[in-house]
Amino acid sequence: MSEPRKILVTSALPYANGSIHLGHMLEYIQTDMWVRFQKHRGNQCIYVCADDAHGSAIMLRAEKEGITPEQLIANVQAEHSADFADFLVDFDNFHSTHAEENRELSSQIYLKLRDAGHIATRSITQYFDPEKKMFLADRFIKGTCPKCGTEDQYGDNCEKCGATYAPTDLKDPKSAISGATPVLKDSQHFFFKLPDFQEMLQTWTRSGTLQDAVANKIAEWLDAGLQQWDISRDAPYFGFEIPGEPGKYFYVWLDAPIGYMASFKNLCNRTPELDFDAFWGKDSTAELYHFIGKDIVNFHALFWPAMLEGAGYRKPTGINVHGYLTVNGQKMSKSRGTFIKARTYLDHLSPEYLRYYYAAKLGRGVDDLDLNLEDFVQKVNSDLVGKVVNIASRCAGFINKGNAGVMVDTNAAPELTEAFLAAAPSIADAYEARDFARAMREIMGLADRANAWIADKAPWSLNKQEGKQDEVQAICATGINLFRQLVIFLKPVLPLLAADAEAFLNVAPLTWNDHATLLANHQLNEFKPLMTRIDPVKVQAMTDASKEDLTASQTDTGAAAPAGNGELAKDPLSPEIDFDTFAAVDLRVALIVKAEHVEGADKLLRLTLDIGDEQRNVFSGIKSAYPDPSRLDGRLTMMIANLKPRKMKFGISEGMVMAAGPGGEEIYLLSPDSGAKPGQRIK
Ligand code: 2FM
Ligand code: ZN
Repeated sequence: MSEPRKILVTSALPYANGSIHLGHMLEYIQTDMWVRFQKHRGNQCIYVCADDAHGSAIMLRAEKEGITPEQLIANVQAEHSADFADFLVDFDNFHSTHAEENRELSSQIYLKLRDAGHIATRSITQYFDPEKKMFLADRFIKGTCPKCGTEDQYGDNCEKCGATYAPTDLKDPKSAISGATPVLKDSQHFFFKLPDFQEMLQTWTRSGTLQDAVANKIAEWLDAGLQQWDISRDAPYFGFEIPGEPGKYFYVWLDAPIGYMASFKNLCNRTPELDFDAFWGKDSTAELYHFIGKDIVNFHALFWPAMLEGAGYRKPTGINVHGYLTVNGQKMSKSRGTFIKARTYLDHLSPEYLRYYYAAKLGRGVDDLDLNLEDFVQKVNSDLVGKVVNIASRCAGFINKGNAGVMVDTNAAPELTEAFLAAAPSIADAYEARDFARAMREIMGLADRANAWIADKAPWSLNKQEGKQDEVQAICATGINLFRQLVIFLKPVLPLLAADAEAFLNVAPLTWNDHATLLANHQLNEFKPLMTRIDPVKVQAMTDASKEDLTASQTDTGAAAPAGNGELAKDPLSPEIDFDTFAAVDLRVALIVKAEHVEGADKLLRLTLDIGDEQRNVFSGIKSAYPDPSRLDGRLTMMIANLKPRKMKFGISEGMVMAAGPGGEEIYLLSPDSGAKPGQRIK
């Protein structure tokens, strides 16, 4: 027996300002399956993660919700932890980057880099919001595209013509946070001198740490020459202040990967047998793997190893990169109901269905994975229910009735059990290489053989014949042993099924090596159905609910009435409001007297609204759904009448009309029942 390996594994840290969705789950499920496989094999494998809690997005989100960032990240951490646990993602620790261990490690790493001469400082000029008194990241600046003239474009690229530019090139720039016109301002920034590590990275990225496709991409960046990396942000910022530099904070991406270490450190602090240095020290012999999506390769395969090297820590053994999730062949879409949150999935379906489907489709490459919902139903039902569980349900009844639940000591298919044994190394290799799809193919190939053998032996026919009872018992005991072997192979993917099977088999928790033994003269427990088929109705209910999630969130965030007010659409996580807050909103029936285009505005319509005692002028970003505004003339809708008037480029907007839908052509103005009169209030 070789020594157990020491392995530390991470998944990317999810941002603490949004819900986990099935795209995220692709990463956590795959990492969890790999970790479970390692543990199943007897290795010491530790899986840590954390919420990525810093940055201006989180600060602004908390402010908008009227809570502190600390409250926001605590709420989100509770939500994330529950989602992961219910998807059977078994972290050894799920921490937060906003934690003392991370503050200490980030400061210490920064100081080591600084003292070794790897930090530079210089002044840079950036847009500054004079109302909010903060510097604006590119995504918080909006304006008119300098190339094609489209309005309301972000500070770095135009969604319409695809042009990329500096925020200072935008015409008529506005702060997306306050609406104020930003001014240019200088400030001192801190830079990590990445070019110092060019040579090390050239070697490290070609030393088997990366998949070939990833290494090739990195080689392009290395060939182009590395740039210094801006690691500081000015106050106000939610993060850690840079030691000795009041008002300067570490950029969120500086302390995020250090969060991997901090989460492990936090675990070490309460686990005496774990030694931090044995995993992170320069001479560590432990293996270290980061599972990430392809969008954050630069942070993990360039900045991170360079920071570790510069601060005297070990570097990762491997960065395991995966592609994106598509649903039904397309990007996840809120309007199609395929932007599915983890919780919405769990409200309708068992986590193991998705775990198996992902496993069946995950190779070791960086290709995107498609969750085709019809194929999902078909594959899970056919493989797990039709093949694997079927073996046990075909055999258990005969043993129960014919032999009081005791498996006899006869192997009726020695060649088949031998073939199962012989397949194990190849299945293990596939798991090890993260080629879950190959592992699942091989396992299902074995399940097919077991089913074909049982069908050929037809114990149900033999059972009706006299004198064949011993043969029936031998066939069924063999069938159950084959089933047990399949469960052992599938356990990293299907831990619940494995636990239920262990209860039925009346055995201690199975480990990988148990596949080499067989049960004989063994008492089984009562057989209960181990897995039910997916009912397509539930899948439909899940996609319907995902559309509802969207409607609810849009109403909550105000994005339902995209009035062109520069508000950034954010993921919902709406705090409850009390009745008084609700009652303070003056919701009224409004008659659209006139709806018209606004000269020079791409998205807006001008609505003249009659609310009984007065007329209001409201600009509403609904043009994409109502290209012919005259069809709105004379229609009733609902409006918020006591919203503070807002000065916009085209005039003052005196309220907001209410609409639902994801945007584009799918914006639906709300209407009261017929009979409602303009000016009537919601009671
Ligand atoms: O891209 C993201 O969602 C980041 N929150 C991932 C951080 S991974 C690590 F470096 F912390
Ligand atoms: Zn443009």
